[in-house]
Parts: sequence; C-alpha cells; structure tokens
Amino acid sequence: MKVYNFSAGPSMLPEEVKLEAQKDFVDYKGSGMSVTEMSHRSKWYDEIHMQALADLRKLMNIPDDYYILFVQGGASQQFAAVPMNLLVKGRADYIVTGNFANKAAKEAVKYGDCAVAASSKDATYTYIPENVKFRSDLDYVHITQNNTIFGTRYTGRTYPVADCPIVSDMSSMILSEEVDVSKYGLIYAGAQKNIAPAGLTIVIVRKDLVGNEKPYCPTMLSYKTQADADSLYNTPPCFTIYMAGLVFKHLLKMGGVKEMQKINEYKAKLLYDFIDSSSFYKNSVKVEDRSLMNVPFVAPTDELNAKFVKEAEKNGLVSIKGHKLVGGMRASIYNAMPVEGVETLIEFMKKFETENK
Ligand SMILES: Cc1ncc(COP(=O)(O)O)c(C=O)c1O
Repeated sequence: MKVYNFSAGPSMLPEEVKLEAQKDFVDYKGSGMSVTEMSHRSKWYDEIHMQALADLRKLMNIPDDYYILFVQGGASQQFAAVPMNLLVKGRADYIVTGNFANKAAKEAVKYGDCAVAASSKDATYTYIPENVKFRSDLDYVHITQNNTIFGTRYTGRTYPVADCPIVSDMSSMILSEEVDVSKYGLIYAGAQKNIAPAGLTIVIVRKDLVGNEKPYCPTMLSYKTQADADSLYNTPPCFTIYMAGLVFKHLLKMGGVKEMQKINEYKAKLLYDFIDSSSFYKNSVKVEDRSLMNVPFVAPTDELNAKFVKEAEKNGLVSIKGHKLVGGMRASIYNAMPVEGVETLIEFMKKFETENK
C-alpha cells in the first residue's frame, strides 16, 4: 500500500532523493566508501559540504554579507544560542505565537532582559498578533515564522516592524515559500521537516551580528567558531548534510523555492477549501494566518477524532494525529508531500464524513 506520511517532523523526503542516497549508500561515487564512514576532512566530504552550502545560498538567494552555518542541537539549542550570541545591549522582545515561541522566550530570559511583546495565547494561538509595539534599544525581535503545532504563519500583513534585527525560527517553513533574507538579522531552522533527516540545524546570520557572544557562551555555540571554520570546527552530521545537499539539488531542479511555493499554496488551498466546505471538519485558525505547512483540523467529537486517526492509518495516511496541545488531527504537508497525498487525504476525509455523519 502506498503510504503518505503527514508527520510534523521528521517528515517525508522526496522519493528521488531517497533513491539517489540508496544508490550511493555503500559506495559513494566510486570512492569505495559510504558517506556515513568518510572522514569529515576528506576531499570527498569537503565537496559535499561546500556544495550544500553553495546550493542553499542559491536557493534562498542569501546575500554575501550573511554566513550560513550548519550546526547541531536542533532548533531548541538555538533558543539559547541566539541570546548568547546576539545580546549586546542586553534586551530583546519575543512574540509568542505557540509552544516553540514560548520555549524560545523562556530560554532567552536566562541571558538578559528578554520580554514578551505580544502573545496569541488568549485565543489558543489561533492567530498572529498584528501591529506589535516593541521596546526601544533592542538587540533583536524574535518571531516563529510558522507555528507547527497550531498551524499559523507570518505573512506580509503581520510581519513585525522594528528598528532592530528580526530573528526568525523558520523550522517548519524554510524553503517552502520565498523569503527576503535581507529583512532578517538571523534565521534558524531544524532540518528535519523540509530539508533532511534529523541532526542538522541551519543558521543564516548577518555577518556584522557575529563575534559578540557572551564570555560564557560555549565554544560550540558561538556563531564565530562555526563561521570561521565553515561549520567544520568539529565533526558535523556528515550524512544529514549530504542528504540536505541532495534535497537542495532536487529543489533547484524543481525550479527553486518560487515553484515550491506555488505547489505548496495549491496543496494547502485544496485542503482548506475542502475543510471550509464541510460541516463535519473544522479548522479554527484565523483564515489569513493559516499555515501552508501544518493544517490542524477536528471532527465533531473526540471519539470521531480517535477513529479518524486509526482508520486513516489503515488506509496509508500515517502520523496524522494532532499534537496533544491541540488534539484532533494535523496534516503536515511539507515540500516533499506530493499533491496526490493531499488529494488522497481529502478523498479519505469525504468517505469518513459520509460514514460517520
Ligand atoms: C517551529 C519549531 N521550532 C522549534 C522546534 C524544535 O526543534 P528541534 O526538535 O529541532 O529542537 C520545532 C519542532 O518541531 C518547531 O516546529
């Protein structure tokens, strides 16, 4: 049976990429070695590493005055690394739009005068706050660009206006829609949703913001350490970076982020239009703030939600259970989810509705 994996992360990878990795797994391009067993100082790996950096720069149109860092520890490690590296005046404001934004804000408080400028907790994070006013003399404002659990995202309308750098957690939307990198001071993202298997975190940081880390900042968490060493200060997650490189090549071949955005908008519209046309399923997110990547929805009762998840799995629609903070279902439809996956889900939803109304 064909399986469509709606997991929020780690999540689907493009079929073509998995097949290529499989072909080269035992003997990478005649080297006689697998990428999993190569020295990270070998010429073979060096090529993979540098090409992946270059391809990501191309895909996101990252200006020369930004470093791209490949680090570890997940996006969660960046909740601490960002304040340790960027707090110079010692103040930052956070917009809390969900669970991960809240974690980032809570972590930052340990390192300086970090405050919550706005939150959408009052409505269970179903919207993105608009026209947020920030304090003065800030080192940065932090946002979570796509909220994986609650299914909201920033758009032009809600993008914060601040006279300091914007730091964005793009974990669940990186490479899914075009972003103007020059509008950010720093972007970070765990790779395990739109890019690669788990183990890699991407940091894109404006060069002038690097080099001011706190004296107590661990060497490994200093952006300067990683920037000076092209992210080869210690052993990087070589195989994950190799997989990321394959995904970058695949996306370039598909026409880049612009094309992915068109497909993602199409997929999300199919699903939201269906949910909105049904009196059985409901998505509670403010329409303008709906995520293109994570679509939470509920059936009329908890019993029906549980039944839906169970039957969906039997039909090859796996990992569609909603996060425990929200309940119901969540369809994560990242770049690698084909249109057919969303169409198959909608067909199943129609059938389930007819049988359980
Ligand atoms: C928006 C967002 N930020 C941060 C995280 C935490 O990422 P990690 O597991 O890489 O630490 C997640 C994980 O799902 C996420 O969705």
